[in-house]
Amino acid sequence: MRVAIFASGTGSNFTAICDAALEDVEVVLAFSDQPTAGVVDLARRRDIPTVTFSPRNFDTRLAYEEALVGMVRQARADLIVLAGYMRIIQGPLLAAYPGAIVNIHPSLLPAFPGKDAIGQAFSAGVETTGVTVHYVDAGMDTGPIIAQHPVAMCSELKDLEAAIHQAEHTIYPQVIAQLAKG
Ligand code: GRF
Repeated sequence: MRVAIFASGTGSNFTAICDAALEDVEVVLAFSDQPTAGVVDLARRRDIPTVTFSPRNFDTRLAYEEALVGMVRQARADLIVLAGYMRIIQGPLLAAYPGAIVNIHPSLLPAFPGKDAIGQAFSAGVETTGVTVHYVDAGMDTGPIIAQHPVAMCSELKDLEAAIHQAEHTIYPQVIAQLAKG
């Protein structure tokens, strides 16, 4: 399975997926909408074909998405993996890759969708939060759930963040391996 990873940030999930060296999975493309994001450097150092451009480079959001479709098709990717990609996926990409775009979110969806999910769960004082891998639809963190992993609440936010990220780095490669097996 040929995988394209989209990321906007530091790229720890990108690294976890690459380091897992999954059987039958090849990371064929790293894309970032943030040219200076940490993930760009990580991908280049791994010699993974890396592309960056921003919606600001296009007249419309539609044109940006169409450029994404062209890029992913050119890489002949079978699956698009969102790993901290901070944008809503729109029509053209969803239509071009139906059921083939996945995302990871740092909460037990449907609880705490959107930004700062870890902080939201911490402030709410829930006993258990966690991570969710789901298929992507046009909503924000609303697509069908593939897998979830619970994480117990911590007394410090930074400890909760570390526990959530550790869970992400375990579950995301596992789910991708499962998808590769069909
Ligand atoms: C992760 O917490 C992920 O769940 C969320 O964005 C964060 C990305 O972190 N969607 P990283 O860039 O993979 O380190």
